[in-house]
Amino acid sequence: MTALPFRLAGFAALMVAALMLNGSPTLAQQGDHADKPPARPRLADIMQGVQWRHMKLWFAAKAHNWELAGYETKQIRARLEDAASLYQSLPVSDLTTMAKPLDAVAAAIAAKDYAAFTKAYAGLTTGCNGCHDSVKLGFVVIKTPTSDPFADQDFRLPKK
Ligand code: HEC
Repeated sequence: MTALPFRLAGFAALMVAALMLNGSPTLAQQGDHADKPPARPRLADIMQGVQWRHMKLWFAAKAHNWELAGYETKQIRARLEDAASLYQSLPVSDLTTMAKPLDAVAAAIAAKDYAAFTKAYAGLTTGCNGCHDSVKLGFVVIKTPTSDPFADQDFRLPKK
C-alpha cells in the first residue's frame, strides 16, 4: 500500500519521458493522472529554494528594497506551503509556527522598518532551525547571511 504513491509518481515520470521523446501530447492525455504534476519535487530541493529566498530576503531588506523583500517573503511562504501539502509527514505544528515569524517579517516590510525587520528575520531563522531540530536534522543550521552570493542580481530598487 505505502509503495503505491511512489509507483504512481514513477508512472507519471515515465509518461513525461515518453512525451518528451516523441513530442505527442496524446500519450500524456490518455493517462488517468495526466492532470497531475509528473512527480513531486524533492523536499531538499524545495528547501534549497527556501534557502535562496531566505538569503535574498536579507539582502533586499538590507538595501531597503521593500518591494523585493515582500516578494521574497511570499516566495518563502509559498514553498513552505508546497512542502506541507506535498510532504504530509512533515511536522505540521512546525509549519504553522512559521506563520507567525513570516507575518512579523511581512509587517516589518510593510512598515519599512529595518530594525523590526532584523528582529523578525532572526525569529524566522529560529523557526527554520526549530523544525530541522524536530525532524532530527539539527545539522542543517540556517543563519543570517554574511555575504551576498548573487553576483547577477542587484538588490537595490532602481532609481526612476
Ligand atoms: C516544517 C519543517 C521545516 C521548516 C519550517 C524548514 N525546513 Fe528546511 N528542511 C526540512 C526537512 C524535512 C529537510 C530535509 C529534506 C530532505 O533531505 O529530504 C530540510 C532541509 C533543508 C535544507 C538542506 C537542503 C540541502 O540540500 O542542503 C536547507 C538548506 C533548508 N532546509 C533550509 C530551510 C530554511 C532556510 C528554512 C526557513 C526559512 C527552513 N528550511 C524551514 C524541514 C523544514
